[in-house]
Amino acid sequence: MKPELQRRVQRYGWDYSSPYYEKGWDKQLWPAQRRLLKQAELTPGDSVLDISCGTGLVTFPIAKQVGEEGRVTGIDLSEKMIEKAAEKADEMNITNVSFEQMDAEELALDDARFDVTINSLGMMYYPNPEKAITEMYRVTGVGGRAAALVWGRRSKCGWAEIFPIVDKRVNTDVCPLFFSLGTGDTLQDHFIKAGFNQVELQRFSMTLPYSTNEEAIISAFLGGAVAMAYRKFEEDEKKKAHQEYLESIQPYWDGKVYEIPGEFVIVSGNRI
Ligand SMILES: C[S@@+](CC[C@H](N)C(=O)[O-])C[C@H]1O[C@@H](n2cnc3c(N)ncnc32)[C@H](O)[C@@H]1O
Repeated sequence: MKPELQRRVQRYGWDYSSPYYEKGWDKQLWPAQRRLLKQAELTPGDSVLDISCGTGLVTFPIAKQVGEEGRVTGIDLSEKMIEKAAEKADEMNITNVSFEQMDAEELALDDARFDVTINSLGMMYYPNPEKAITEMYRVTGVGGRAAALVWGRRSKCGWAEIFPIVDKRVNTDVCPLFFSLGTGDTLQDHFIKAGFNQVELQRFSMTLPYSTNEEAIISAFLGGAVAMAYRKFEEDEKKKAHQEYLESIQPYWDGKVYEIPGEFVIVSGNRI
């Protein structure tokens, strides 16, 4: 897929998912996101960039950790995600955050501006993640730190059938490089190549709980990057796709809840 098309699919796909994203992923992702924040080693007063912030699932916990003296900037390609995050900040009266629409591969931000740069589950969707990591390095100050979370290997992610189920009904591969960053040392190598030092990789697994078929379907089809492609399906095609997805996750139903396995990778590094 051409980079420009992939960017459009992502931008508008995530616009469509923005009302469903938290319903499908909020409690399921927090254990992995919490590990990312620990690895980022935030301290009160830090100035932090949250790249691909989405609705702010990670931005708001960062804002709490850096305190009133600190500051968080959240950026995302999707306008609707940014709108939602900004609305939430207003509702919760959180004043040390700001949000801006921006492409992670072209950050309109000054060099060395942040103490810490974070990316939670955004990089799998970029046409050129290496470029985004170089940008991440550029805006991290000397003495600063960066940390990124991505999904791990395809064979370890029990929800991965969603991609072929959607892709066989549309002409393009919705997320061509999705699992490549979390396979082997790819992400770590990109961090080293960008210039980061003391680069570390952690690989870990956890399960994603869904109590009903409906919850599992919302997260897979509406709460993620395939939302734009899925939206174009006819009603009976949607039902067939749901059925295929439910069959693919059936092994993880324990009689009360789906416990879908997921593997994650965190890479962190310092700018010295
Ligand atoms: C799975 S969500 C992650 C949201 C949030 N960081 C979290 O952990 O919940 C992926 C986000 O990446 C954003 N995204 C996709 N391509 C992007 C790009 N090229 N630049 C910036 N953000 C992008 C999407 O709009 C979406 O909000």
